[in-house]
Amino acid sequence: MKKLNLLYTGKAKKVYATEDPNYCIFEYKDDATAFNGQKVGFFDGKGMINNKVANAIFKLLENDGIKTHFVEELSERESLVKKVDIIPLEVIIRNISAGSFCKRYGAKEGIVFDKPTVEFSYKNDELGDPLINSYHAVALGIADRNDIDQIVKSAFAINDSLKKIFIKMDIKLVDFKLEFGKDSGGNIVLADEISPDTCRLWDAETNKKLDKDRFRFDMGEFSDVYFEVWNRLKECYGEI
Ligand code: TMP
Ligand code: ASP
Repeated sequence: MKKLNLLYTGKAKKVYATEDPNYCIFEYKDDATAFNGQKVGFFDGKGMINNKVANAIFKLLENDGIKTHFVEELSERESLVKKVDIIPLEVIIRNISAGSFCKRYGAKEGIVFDKPTVEFSYKNDELGDPLINSYHAVALGIADRNDIDQIVKSAFAINDSLKKIFIKMDIKLVDFKLEFGKDSGGNIVLADEISPDTCRLWDAETNKKLDKDRFRFDMGEFSDVYFEVWNRLKECYGEI
């Protein structure tokens, strides 16, 4: 399908229209941003890795019965996806304490939860993606109660699948962010991306951080760990 006009430039990818209004094309960039765009960087190959990692994960999730927007990889950094109306909620699932959870509650990093947690941020750059609860999201008309219940159920099912996918790669899934959208039929599907940008991934033996925290907190080996995740994915699942 042909790439037409640019619809949207995000922090890590561009979205293009196609000849078919039901589909669009993602083009992943090498750019990295953190703290709502205040910190910027990049490395050669980041776009390619996030494209390939996200696509492989979407395919593995589809095999587990999870509906995603993914259609087809078009090139090293481009993919065809179903056009969806993004529900402006970042859905965050946590299995182990880290990041803003520790900061907000003064908790130690690395506490393994008996049950995963869920929280939402309102996707709004001007407001800095504030934390929001489901009642506020309904009050603001961001989603209805049915949508939210479906999203939460789906997010926990995705967590179960993702934990299995990553543990085969000797990686603990600490936490991650999901975005959902509605397709032309009104069905809620998993959208955006799942990559080392949107997950916290720790080596299962050493707890070495294999994700964007290395960039956020200047820990070094930023590009190395992305290549490491991609290589482990290929070793476990082949070039899927
Ligand atoms: P947090 O601990 O900073 O709230 O992040 C939780 C998870 O969500 C972590 O895996 C990183 C991911 N995340 C994003 O994908 N995008 C974002 O804008 C933020 C703040 C977090
Ligand atoms: N994605 C966000 C940003 O670019 C925040 C983050 O991932 O830390 O600013």
